[in-house]
Amino acid sequence: MSKKIGILTSGGDCAGLNAVIRAATLRAVNKYGWKIIGIKDGTLGLIANPMNIIELKPNDFDGTLMRMGGTFLGTSNKGNPFNMIGDEGKRIDLSDKIIEGFKKLNLDSLIGIGGDGSMKILQKLCKKGNINFVGIPKTIDNDVENNELSIGYDTAVDVATNALDMLQPTAASHRRAMILEVMGRDAGHIALNAGIAGGADIILIPEIRYSLKSISSHIEKIRSNGRNHALIVVAEAVKKEDGRKATVKFVDGQVRLGGIGTYIADEIAKITKAETRVTVLGHVQRGAQPTHRDRLIASAFGVYAVDLVAQEKFNRIVVWQNRGVTDVDLDSIAGKSKTVNINDPLIKVAVGLNIYVGEIK
Ligand code: F6P
Repeated sequence: MSKKIGILTSGGDCAGLNAVIRAATLRAVNKYGWKIIGIKDGTLGLIANPMNIIELKPNDFDGTLMRMGGTFLGTSNKGNPFNMIGDEGKRIDLSDKIIEGFKKLNLDSLIGIGGDGSMKILQKLCKKGNINFVGIPKTIDNDVENNELSIGYDTAVDVATNALDMLQPTAASHRRAMILEVMGRDAGHIALNAGIAGGADIILIPEIRYSLKSISSHIEKIRSNGRNHALIVVAEAVKKEDGRKATVKFVDGQVRLGGIGTYIADEIAKITKAETRVTVLGHVQRGAQPTHRDRLIASAFGVYAVDLVAQEKFNRIVVWQNRGVTDVDLDSIAGKSKTVNINDPLIKVAVGLNIYVGEIK
Protein backbone atom coordinates (compact mmCIF):
# COMPACT_ATOMS: atom_id res chain seq x y z
CA MET A 1 0.00 0.00 0.00
CA SER A 2 1.32 3.41 -0.87
CA LYS A 3 2.36 5.56 2.07
CA LYS A 4 3.35 9.11 2.83
CA ILE A 5 5.91 9.38 5.62
CA GLY A 6 7.57 12.29 7.37
CA ILE A 7 11.18 12.60 8.47
CA LEU A 8 12.83 15.17 10.72
CA THR A 9 16.06 15.82 12.60
CA SER A 10 15.80 17.01 16.19
CA GLY A 11 18.24 18.23 18.87
CA GLY A 12 21.86 19.22 18.24
CA ASP A 13 23.18 18.51 14.76
CA CYS A 14 26.06 16.15 14.03
CA ALA A 15 27.86 14.57 11.10
CA GLY A 16 25.96 11.92 9.14
CA LEU A 17 22.47 13.41 9.28
CA ASN A 18 22.32 14.14 5.56
CA ALA A 19 23.47 10.58 4.88
CA VAL A 20 20.63 9.10 6.96
CA ILE A 21 18.00 11.32 5.31
CA ARG A 22 19.37 10.21 1.94
CA ALA A 23 19.22 6.51 2.86
CA ALA A 24 15.62 6.78 4.09
CA THR A 25 14.61 8.67 0.94
CA LEU A 26 16.21 6.16 -1.43
CA ARG A 27 14.60 3.23 0.38
CA ALA A 28 11.14 4.82 0.71
CA VAL A 29 10.95 5.95 -2.92
CA ASN A 30 12.94 3.31 -4.82
CA LYS A 31 11.88 0.19 -2.94
CA TYR A 32 8.35 1.06 -1.80
CA GLY A 33 7.27 3.87 -4.14
CA TRP A 34 6.20 6.03 -1.16
CA LYS A 35 6.26 9.80 -0.72
CA ILE A 36 8.68 11.08 1.90
CA ILE A 37 8.29 14.55 3.36
CA GLY A 38 11.21 16.33 5.02
CA ILE A 39 10.06 18.48 7.95
CA LYS A 40 12.33 21.47 8.52
CA ASP A 41 13.82 22.68 11.82
CA GLY A 42 12.65 19.68 13.83
CA THR A 43 9.01 19.83 14.87
CA LEU A 44 9.02 23.61 14.34
CA GLY A 45 8.43 23.00 10.61
CA LEU A 46 4.97 21.65 11.45
CA ILE A 47 3.83 24.80 13.26
CA ALA A 48 5.25 27.29 10.78
CA ASN A 49 2.74 29.11 8.60
CA PRO A 50 2.94 27.96 5.83
CA MET A 51 4.37 24.66 7.01
CA ASN A 52 8.08 24.36 6.44
CA ILE A 53 8.32 21.08 4.58
CA ILE A 54 9.84 19.66 1.42
CA GLU A 55 9.10 16.51 -0.56
CA LEU A 56 12.34 14.55 -0.80
CA LYS A 57 13.37 12.91 -4.07
CA PRO A 58 16.32 10.59 -4.74
CA ASN A 59 17.72 13.15 -7.20
CA ASP A 60 18.13 15.63 -4.33
CA PHE A 61 20.98 13.44 -3.16
CA ASP A 62 22.88 13.07 -6.43
CA GLY A 63 25.44 15.65 -5.40
CA THR A 64 27.53 16.31 -2.34
CA LEU A 65 24.83 16.26 0.35
CA MET A 66 25.62 12.90 1.96
CA ARG A 67 29.26 13.94 2.32
CA MET A 68 28.42 17.10 4.22
CA GLY A 69 28.12 17.74 7.95
CA GLY A 70 25.02 19.30 9.50
CA THR A 71 21.44 18.61 8.47
CA PHE A 72 20.03 20.28 5.38
CA LEU A 73 16.57 19.95 6.96
CA GLY A 74 17.65 22.12 9.88
CA THR A 75 17.06 21.19 13.50
CA SER A 76 16.30 22.69 16.88
CA ASN A 77 17.53 21.97 20.38
CA LYS A 78 15.66 24.81 22.01
CA GLY A 79 13.42 23.45 24.68
CA ASN A 80 10.56 21.10 24.92
CA PRO A 81 7.40 21.78 22.82
CA PHE A 82 5.28 20.74 25.79
CA ASN A 83 6.82 23.56 27.80
CA MET A 84 8.15 26.37 25.58
CA ILE A 85 8.71 29.98 26.46
CA GLY A 86 6.41 32.14 24.32
CA ASP A 87 7.00 35.68 23.03
CA GLU A 88 5.77 37.30 26.25
CA GLY A 89 7.95 35.05 28.38
CA LYS A 90 4.98 32.83 29.33
CA ARG A 91 5.15 29.03 29.25
CA ILE A 92 3.18 27.51 26.37
CA ASP A 93 2.39 23.98 25.21
CA LEU A 94 2.82 23.59 21.43
CA SER A 95 2.16 19.85 21.30
CA ASP A 96 -1.42 20.12 19.94
CA LYS A 97 -0.29 22.47 17.16
CA ILE A 98 2.51 20.10 16.15
CA ILE A 99 0.12 17.13 16.10
CA GLU A 100 -2.38 19.19 14.08
CA GLY A 101 0.35 19.96 11.52
CA PHE A 102 1.24 16.29 11.25
CA LYS A 103 -2.41 15.32 10.68
CA LYS A 104 -2.88 18.08 8.08
CA LEU A 105 -0.10 16.53 6.03
CA ASN A 106 -1.89 13.16 6.07
CA LEU A 107 1.28 11.37 7.04
CA ASP A 108 1.12 7.65 7.83
CA SER A 109 4.14 7.70 10.10
CA LEU A 110 7.10 9.69 11.28
CA ILE A 111 10.82 8.90 11.35
CA GLY A 112 12.59 11.06 13.95
CA ILE A 113 16.36 11.31 14.09
CA GLY A 114 17.51 12.48 17.51
CA GLY A 115 19.38 11.88 20.74
CA ASP A 116 17.93 10.59 24.01
CA GLY A 117 16.31 13.93 24.90
CA SER A 118 14.65 14.31 21.50
CA MET A 119 13.47 10.70 21.54
CA LYS A 120 11.70 11.22 24.82
CA ILE A 121 9.89 14.30 23.52
CA LEU A 122 9.04 12.81 20.12
CA GLN A 123 7.74 9.63 21.74
CA LYS A 124 5.52 11.65 24.08
CA LEU A 125 4.21 13.72 21.15
CA CYS A 126 3.51 10.64 19.05
CA LYS A 127 1.75 8.85 21.90
CA LYS A 128 -0.42 11.91 22.49
CA GLY A 129 -1.21 12.33 18.77
CA ASN A 130 -1.50 8.60 18.00
CA ILE A 131 1.30 8.96 15.46
CA ASN A 132 3.21 5.92 14.20
CA PHE A 133 6.81 6.59 15.15
CA VAL A 134 10.24 5.10 14.43
CA GLY A 135 13.39 6.63 15.95
CA ILE A 136 16.97 6.77 14.72
CA PRO A 137 19.73 7.60 17.25
CA LYS A 138 22.16 10.41 16.55
CA THR A 139 24.38 12.23 19.00
CA ILE A 140 28.08 12.89 19.27
CA ASP A 141 27.71 12.01 22.97
CA ASN A 142 26.96 8.35 22.08
CA ASP A 143 24.86 8.06 25.21
CA VAL A 144 21.74 6.35 23.83
CA GLU A 145 20.99 3.24 25.89
CA ASN A 146 21.01 -0.21 24.19
CA ASN A 147 22.93 1.22 21.27
CA GLU A 148 26.64 0.84 20.61
CA LEU A 149 26.98 3.62 18.05
CA SER A 150 24.97 6.75 17.39
CA ILE A 151 25.31 8.72 14.18
CA GLY A 152 27.86 11.53 14.58
CA TYR A 153 29.89 9.98 17.37
CA ASP A 154 32.65 8.49 15.23
CA THR A 155 33.23 11.81 13.48
CA ALA A 156 33.41 13.67 16.80
CA VAL A 157 36.01 11.20 18.10
CA ASP A 158 37.94 11.61 14.87
CA VAL A 159 37.95 15.41 15.19
CA ALA A 160 39.13 15.20 18.81
CA THR A 161 41.85 12.70 17.85
CA ASN A 162 43.03 15.00 15.05
CA ALA A 163 43.11 17.88 17.54
CA LEU A 164 45.45 15.85 19.78
CA ASP A 165 47.61 15.06 16.75
CA MET A 166 47.94 18.79 16.17
CA LEU A 167 48.46 19.68 19.80
CA GLN A 168 51.33 17.23 20.31
CA PRO A 169 53.94 19.00 18.14
CA THR A 170 53.22 22.41 19.64
CA ALA A 171 53.20 20.92 23.16
CA ALA A 172 56.61 19.37 22.52
CA SER A 173 58.02 22.53 20.92
CA HIS A 174 57.13 24.67 23.94
CA ARG A 175 57.47 22.02 26.66
CA ARG A 176 53.88 22.55 27.69
CA ALA A 177 51.00 20.57 29.14
CA MET A 178 48.14 20.93 26.67
CA ILE A 179 44.58 20.52 27.88
CA LEU A 180 41.90 19.60 25.36
CA GLU A 181 38.29 20.08 26.53
CA VAL A 182 35.85 17.96 24.54
CA MET A 183 32.05 17.68 24.39
CA GLY A 184 29.96 14.68 25.38
CA ARG A 185 27.61 16.07 28.01
CA ASP A 186 27.50 13.66 31.00
CA ALA A 187 29.20 10.85 29.09
CA GLY A 188 32.96 10.46 28.70
CA HIS A 189 32.93 8.39 25.50
CA ILE A 190 34.50 11.05 23.25
CA ALA A 191 37.21 11.88 25.80
CA LEU A 192 38.08 8.24 26.50
CA ASN A 193 38.18 7.10 22.88
CA ALA A 194 39.95 10.14 21.43
CA GLY A 195 42.31 10.24 24.39
CA ILE A 196 43.52 6.70 23.76
CA ALA A 197 43.65 7.11 19.97
CA GLY A 198 45.40 10.48 20.25
CA GLY A 199 48.08 9.38 22.71
CA ALA A 200 46.91 11.39 25.73
CA ASP A 201 48.71 11.04 29.06
CA ILE A 202 45.71 11.92 31.17
CA ILE A 203 42.01 11.42 30.41
CA LEU A 204 39.38 12.86 32.71
CA ILE A 205 35.77 11.73 32.31
CA PRO A 206 32.67 12.58 34.37
CA GLU A 207 32.18 8.96 35.40
CA ILE A 208 35.49 8.62 37.32
CA ARG A 209 36.66 10.80 40.21
CA TYR A 210 40.14 12.29 39.84
CA SER A 211 42.58 14.01 42.16
CA LEU A 212 44.65 17.06 41.23
CA LYS A 213 47.47 15.63 43.31
CA SER A 214 47.51 12.40 41.24
CA ILE A 215 47.36 14.36 37.97
CA SER A 216 50.31 16.46 39.12
CA SER A 217 52.40 13.49 40.20
CA HIS A 218 51.63 11.81 36.85
CA ILE A 219 53.04 14.90 35.11
CA GLU A 220 56.07 14.90 37.41
CA LYS A 221 56.68 11.24 36.53
CA ILE A 222 56.51 12.01 32.80
CA ARG A 223 59.05 14.77 33.40
CA SER A 224 61.41 12.60 35.43
CA ASN A 225 61.27 10.01 32.64
CA GLY A 226 62.69 12.64 30.30
CA ARG A 227 59.64 13.92 28.43
CA ASN A 228 58.96 17.64 28.61
CA HIS A 229 55.35 17.85 27.50
CA ALA A 230 51.98 16.22 28.15
CA LEU A 231 48.53 15.88 26.61
CA ILE A 232 45.42 15.98 28.78
CA VAL A 233 41.87 15.37 27.57
CA VAL A 234 39.00 16.48 29.76
CA ALA A 235 35.31 15.90 29.11
CA GLU A 236 33.14 19.01 29.51
CA ALA A 237 31.02 17.60 32.36
CA VAL A 238 33.97 16.70 34.59
CA LYS A 239 33.47 18.52 37.89
CA LYS A 240 35.94 20.60 39.85
CA GLU A 241 37.72 18.69 42.57
CA ASP A 242 35.24 19.98 45.17
CA GLY A 243 32.33 18.56 43.16
CA ARG A 244 31.09 21.82 41.63
CA LYS A 245 30.15 21.86 37.94
CA ALA A 246 32.12 24.12 35.60
CA THR A 247 29.51 26.17 33.76
CA VAL A 248 29.17 29.40 31.82
CA LYS A 249 26.13 31.69 31.84
CA PHE A 250 25.30 32.90 28.35
CA VAL A 251 23.62 36.21 27.47
CA ASP A 252 20.34 34.37 26.83
CA GLY A 253 20.37 33.42 30.51
CA GLN A 254 21.07 29.75 29.79
CA VAL A 255 23.75 28.02 31.84
CA ARG A 256 25.86 25.62 29.80
CA LEU A 257 28.81 23.34 30.51
CA GLY A 258 32.20 24.99 30.02
CA GLY A 259 35.40 25.95 31.77
CA ILE A 260 36.68 22.69 33.23
CA GLY A 261 39.70 22.76 30.86
CA THR A 262 40.80 26.14 32.23
CA TYR A 263 40.25 25.00 35.81
CA ILE A 264 42.42 21.89 35.34
CA ALA A 265 45.09 23.92 33.51
CA ASP A 266 45.28 26.53 36.29
CA GLU A 267 45.31 24.03 39.13
CA ILE A 268 48.06 21.82 37.69
CA ALA A 269 50.11 24.87 36.68
CA LYS A 270 49.97 25.98 40.32
CA ILE A 271 51.10 22.60 41.64
CA THR A 272 53.64 21.49 39.01
CA LYS A 273 54.75 24.89 37.65
CA ALA A 274 54.19 23.40 34.19
CA GLU A 275 53.22 25.86 31.49
CA THR A 276 49.68 24.98 30.44
CA ARG A 277 47.41 25.94 27.55
CA VAL A 278 43.77 25.09 26.92
CA THR A 279 41.94 24.24 23.71
CA VAL A 280 38.16 24.06 23.88
CA LEU A 281 37.20 22.02 20.85
CA GLY A 282 33.50 22.94 20.78
CA HIS A 283 31.23 22.63 17.80
CA VAL A 284 33.86 21.53 15.29
CA GLN A 285 33.11 18.09 16.76
CA ARG A 286 29.59 18.39 15.36
CA GLY A 287 30.06 20.15 12.04
CA ALA A 288 32.82 18.08 10.45
CA GLN A 289 32.47 15.99 7.31
CA PRO A 290 31.16 12.54 8.35
CA THR A 291 33.68 9.70 8.58
CA HIS A 292 33.08 6.58 6.49
CA ARG A 293 31.82 4.84 9.63
CA ASP A 294 29.19 7.47 10.34
CA ARG A 295 28.06 7.32 6.72
CA LEU A 296 27.78 3.53 6.94
CA ILE A 297 25.79 3.57 10.16
CA ALA A 298 23.60 6.37 8.85
CA SER A 299 22.92 4.43 5.65
CA ALA A 300 22.13 1.22 7.53
CA PHE A 301 19.85 3.06 9.99
CA GLY A 302 17.97 4.94 7.24
CA VAL A 303 17.20 1.81 5.21
CA TYR A 304 16.24 -0.19 8.30
CA ALA A 305 13.95 2.51 9.69
CA VAL A 306 11.95 2.62 6.45
CA ASP A 307 11.70 -1.18 6.48
CA LEU A 308 10.30 -0.99 10.03
CA VAL A 309 7.61 1.38 8.76
CA ALA A 310 6.85 -1.08 5.94
CA GLN A 311 6.40 -3.83 8.54
CA GLU A 312 4.27 -1.43 10.62
CA LYS A 313 6.58 -1.93 13.61
CA PHE A 314 6.22 1.30 15.58
CA ASN A 315 7.38 2.83 18.85
CA ARG A 316 10.76 1.30 17.99
CA ILE A 317 14.24 2.75 17.75
CA VAL A 318 16.83 1.48 15.32
CA VAL A 319 20.08 0.56 17.10
CA TRP A 320 23.59 -0.72 16.37
CA GLN A 321 24.46 -3.93 18.24
CA ASN A 322 27.08 -6.62 17.60
CA ARG A 323 28.25 -5.07 14.34
CA GLY A 324 24.79 -4.88 12.84
CA VAL A 325 21.57 -2.93 12.82
CA THR A 326 18.50 -4.04 14.75
CA ASP A 327 15.68 -2.38 16.69
CA VAL A 328 14.45 -2.16 20.28
CA ASP A 329 11.37 -0.83 22.04
CA LEU A 330 11.61 2.94 22.49
CA ASP A 331 10.49 2.52 26.09
CA SER A 332 13.68 0.55 26.79
CA ILE A 333 15.83 3.65 26.19
CA ALA A 334 13.52 6.36 27.50
CA GLY A 335 14.97 8.45 30.30
CA LYS A 336 18.21 6.44 30.33
CA SER A 337 21.69 7.56 29.45
CA LYS A 338 24.57 5.26 28.50
CA THR A 339 27.63 6.62 30.24
CA VAL A 340 31.10 5.04 30.44
CA ASN A 341 31.01 1.95 32.61
CA ILE A 342 33.90 1.62 35.00
CA ASN A 343 34.35 -1.94 33.63
CA ASP A 344 34.54 -0.71 30.04
CA PRO A 345 37.39 -2.61 28.35
CA LEU A 346 38.78 0.72 27.16
CA ILE A 347 39.39 1.79 30.75
CA LYS A 348 41.64 -1.26 31.09
CA VAL A 349 43.38 -0.34 27.84
CA ALA A 350 44.01 3.18 29.11
CA VAL A 351 45.39 1.91 32.40
CA GLY A 352 47.52 -0.60 30.46
CA LEU A 353 48.98 2.31 28.50
CA ASN A 354 49.82 4.10 31.74
CA ILE A 355 47.26 6.81 31.06
CA TYR A 356 45.87 8.42 34.22
CA VAL A 357 42.08 8.03 34.03
CA GLY A 358 41.20 8.93 37.59
CA GLU A 359 41.15 7.24 40.96
CA ILE A 360 40.51 3.64 40.02
CA LYS A 361 40.79 1.08 42.73
O1 F6P B 1 24.44 16.76 22.92
C1 F6P B 1 25.33 17.19 21.95
C2 F6P B 1 26.13 18.37 22.41
O2 F6P B 1 27.05 18.72 21.38
C3 F6P B 1 26.86 18.18 23.73
O3 F6P B 1 28.01 17.38 23.61
C4 F6P B 1 27.09 19.61 24.14
O4 F6P B 1 27.18 19.75 25.54
C5 F6P B 1 25.84 20.31 23.65
O5 F6P B 1 25.30 19.50 22.64
C6 F6P B 1 26.06 21.70 23.11
O6 F6P B 1 24.84 22.23 22.76
P1 F6P B 1 24.66 23.65 22.04
O7 F6P B 1 24.80 23.42 20.57
O8 F6P B 1 23.30 24.07 22.42
O9 F6P B 1 25.74 24.55 22.54
